[in-house]
Amino acid sequence: MKVGVVGTGHVGLVTCASLAAVGHDVVGNDLDEEKVAQLRRGDPWFYEPGLKELLGETMQAGKLRFTSDPGEAMSGAEVVFICVGTPPRASGEANLIAVEHAARNVAKHADRDVVVVEKSTVPAGTAQRVKRTLERERSGAMGHAEVVSNPEFLREGSAIEDSLNPDRILIGAESRAAFDKMRELYAPLIEKGAPVIETDIPTAELAKHACNAFLALKISYVNALARLCEKSGGDVVAVADVMGSDDRIGRSFLNAGLGYGGYCFPKDVQAFESLAARLGSDFPLLGEIARINDQSVDAACEKVVEALWNVEGKKVALLGLAFKPGTDDVRNAPALALARKLLLEGARVVGYDPEGSANAKADCPQLEIAPDAYDAATDAHCVVICTEWAEIKELDLGKLTSAMAYPVIVDGRNLFDPEEMKKAGVSYYPTGRPHISS
Ligand code: UGA
Repeated sequence: MKVGVVGTGHVGLVTCASLAAVGHDVVGNDLDEEKVAQLRRGDPWFYEPGLKELLGETMQAGKLRFTSDPGEAMSGAEVVFICVGTPPRASGEANLIAVEHAARNVAKHADRDVVVVEKSTVPAGTAQRVKRTLERERSGAMGHAEVVSNPEFLREGSAIEDSLNPDRILIGAESRAAFDKMRELYAPLIEKGAPVIETDIPTAELAKHACNAFLALKISYVNALARLCEKSGGDVVAVADVMGSDDRIGRSFLNAGLGYGGYCFPKDVQAFESLAARLGSDFPLLGEIARINDQSVDAACEKVVEALWNVEGKKVALLGLAFKPGTDDVRNAPALALARKLLLEGARVVGYDPEGSANAKADCPQLEIAPDAYDAATDAHCVVICTEWAEIKELDLGKLTSAMAYPVIVDGRNLFDPEEMKKAGVSYYPTGRPHISS
């Protein structure tokens, strides 16, 4: 099938590569000519495991190419995916100008019957707007246009795997023909066992926000619980294990720590709350999720202050700067929120990340960057574990702590075993578990 993909961000580029990998003829379109030039060289502009290889293979096979010309991407396309960014406005609502712009381009350049697929995370009601834009802006060449909502559930760091082996393919559409077109597009994944869920369009749009907000809720729930555990002497990891042994609750997304970051959860929880408010359907729980998330960083900062007394002039090393392992993405990264707080307190803050250091430096120029974890920890008065990279878990603890000024570790991801910390003589501040003093 000939497919156009508008937007080459995390969702768009992975969509391009995975649809090309299953045999479709894909043209990726981005306004940014520099990005397009880089992609034409087979070089993704962000780090995602396996993406560079898949781009290389599919481009070499002639299944995928990139253009900054929307006309080229729409020409002959039976399906056009809208994968553009939907950043928050100051009000918290999603800014949908790029979605409208993409829809206008489809209306102007499509030259046959086309299914326009909303892949970006958008508030319920957006498809109706896209449909109206297509009607208002249509040129003579575009045939019958249908709008479909097909939200993406991929996670950064495992995006290719999630995209090629999805838990479910959610399709919101208005006609049998549109459902069938999407089933035809995803046939290679459906044949491998991916379940398809068909709904009306507002349900699909709402379901995406509902999933992300619920996952964020689990994280904030366990983080609020962590603080209660610290005060009562309980162990949040053990409590989460007990909760998780109940199938109705499940263990995943109950890892306490510095809280959630990234592009999606912070923006989507806020956008969902704004949507609810705009529709007059009060949903204050959503605001509470975000508030508890911010407190998780505050709590880690308080531990550093508790451990060091005055932080002015002391060196704090942050290990892990990306918002999660497996990515170089530092957008809304809890590590950077913590860095800013510590810098305000007068600390010298040095960070290390296996992939995200350059992005972190660009986002927070006052942060010093170390070439490796040991270097970051040298002469540090405290190390804070901010991202649970495997490389950080495997560090030689003796080597790390002997280089430090004080052997103090604040574990913002409960990455280490408290018993090992005890043996190593570390003053250890985990999250939601008893503190170990050396
Ligand atoms: C999230 C969703 O998981 C995807 O299903 C969705 O498609 C995506 O947003 C999106 O809307 O595009 P992602 O942002 O890549 O994916 O990352 P997650 O793996 O969900 O992690 C989000 C944050 O939660 C990370 O900062 C992570 O460290 C944190 N987290 C996760 C916790 O603090 N505790 C946990 O138990 C789990």
